[in-house]
Amino acid sequence: MMPTLNLGFLASHGGSNMQAIIDACNRGYVNAKPCVVISNNSDSQALLRAKNEGISCYHISTATHGDGADDAIINTFEKHKVDVIILAGYMKKLGDKVIERFKGKILNIHPALLPKYGGKGMYGNFVHEAVLAACEKVSGPTVHVVDKVYDHGRILAQKEVPVFLDDTVDSLSARVLEQEHILYPETIQKIATGEIIL
Ligand code: GRF
Repeated sequence: MMPTLNLGFLASHGGSNMQAIIDACNRGYVNAKPCVVISNNSDSQALLRAKNEGISCYHISTATHGDGADDAIINTFEKHKVDVIILAGYMKKLGDKVIERFKGKILNIHPALLPKYGGKGMYGNFVHEAVLAACEKVSGPTVHVVDKVYDHGRILAQKEVPVFLDDTVDSLSARVLEQEHILYPETIQKIATGEIIL
């Protein structure tokens, strides 16, 4: 079946989640088309990955576009007829203008079980440090819709992983990331089939 869901990505660094989604689309497991990748970081591996996959990619940031960065992001996604925007390790707060234009159609993955361990300053290793400090027995990724408040929008999917007594930030983050690579594509496929309606 021809994919009808056009995906646009925003990523700042490694882009391993983005790659997992692209791979799932290429394998036909996810019925969606990765159309364009935007990064605020010209050195990001995400841009390299996009080039390797033959996907259009752009470096857009306030450094390159000043106050016009949000408009440039919107125009780029519109030009590529993007239906759903996938945040994949995007380390900048998305401008309100972009959130308004694609209201309810922007997804993010967070490396903890929201609503716990979310909000401003809760990113990367800080999340796992907090989970370990609280002696949680479970953690795991959350896919949610992006609204104007950090890590706050509608939760679409979660996957639990155990937290072990001898876990370090590295061992826990690796266990969570492994599940992110499964949960994010799975959730996008549910959107593509209409099982999840945005
Ligand atoms: C992941 O841990 C994800 O939960 C968070 O940012 C990280 C992105 O990793 N939002 P990658 O760039 O996809 O490898």
